[in-house]
Amino acid sequence: QIMSLTTLGMKIFSKMDPEAAHRLAINLLRFGLFPSSKLLSKDPILEQDVFGINFSNPIGLAAGFDKNAEAFEPILALGCGFVEVGSFTPRPQFGNPKPRAFRLLEDEAAISRHGFNNDGLAKGLERLAVRKKQFGLVGINLGINKDSKTPIVDYVDSIIRASAYGDYITVNISSPNTEGLRELQNANNLDCLLKEIYKVKSSTLNDKKVPPILLKVAPDITNKMIEDIINLALKYKIDGLIVGNTTISRPSSLQGHSKNEHGGLSGKPLFELSTKILAQFYILSEGRIILIGSGGVDGVETAYAKIKAGASLIQIYTGLMYHGPELFRIIFDGLGNSLREDGFANIKDAIGVDAHIWH
Ligand code: FNR
Repeated sequence: QIMSLTTLGMKIFSKMDPEAAHRLAINLLRFGLFPSSKLLSKDPILEQDVFGINFSNPIGLAAGFDKNAEAFEPILALGCGFVEVGSFTPRPQFGNPKPRAFRLLEDEAAISRHGFNNDGLAKGLERLAVRKKQFGLVGINLGINKDSKTPIVDYVDSIIRASAYGDYITVNISSPNTEGLRELQNANNLDCLLKEIYKVKSSTLNDKKVPPILLKVAPDITNKMIEDIINLALKYKIDGLIVGNTTISRPSSLQGHSKNEHGGLSGKPLFELSTKILAQFYILSEGRIILIGSGGVDGVETAYAKIKAGASLIQIYTGLMYHGPELFRIIFDGLGNSLREDGFANIKDAIGVDAHIWH
């Protein structure tokens, strides 16, 4: 049997230390050694306006892969619709001691506890400053330093600094590996944070508008928290929610020997939980908030399911580790076909049609 180059490449990657494999992938992308999908034709059925931006394609790369904004252009050339760079913290940060990334091969999953290792926001913005906008959409994901004593001030400062450089900004308050971070999701803290963000949004910075601002939440939340987040997001006019980050829960089905490592679980076993929470957000908000579905997307079926559960856009990370860079193209082709088969004129018409099934 002849093995395709990608299959061979994926086999080699899967034998490497996950963090080294990630570094290699970024370098291969930077030096143009991945096949690009320049021929990507537009498919009008997948094109839509979301929070004032035209997305030619709803399939995005989730935060944490192009952490330092080194490879977003070649990644966009693989055929994905948007790349979220970061998380960036205000100052550079080493992160947690290694090893801090684990593959659960049997589960098509990963556990990570990087703790926001990154070059810092200044370096990221420097790289984004020279980007060619025609290559596609880039969002900037913001975190805070581990030793931050003023999280809200830090987020607001970073939003101001990043505003001119991203098509949208994500405020990440859901990574499980920065102590106390996820407590910002609690109603009182979130009210304070979003109030300050609202103030920045209502002002104009250097005559430039602040781009759409999204909030990235964890899948480990109660219905009461979902309701609080929806109410506050509506009150302070947040443009959208990314649902969601990795989970600290461990489904009993896990087989991989690293299953008990601390950190956030991503990939296939996260699909059900994250899609359930996504549908819950859709139903409880009555479709009034734009949702981006993230968690366990690994093919056409799971991508389509996220959209029907309420997502306007989807993001992928771990699926790429197991299926390679063609995954963007495969989903692009398959999603258009599935929508047509089901008689939808545009992706917009399919958003949330199955949310009740997950309820
Ligand atoms: C992540 N994720 C992530 N999210 C974020 O907001 N900031 C970050 O810095 C990171 N870093 C990161 C590193 C690694 C190694 C992984 C696997 C994940 C979370 C990611 O963006 C995504 O929301 C989840 O992984 C769920 O999607 P998948 O991976 O199941 O498609």
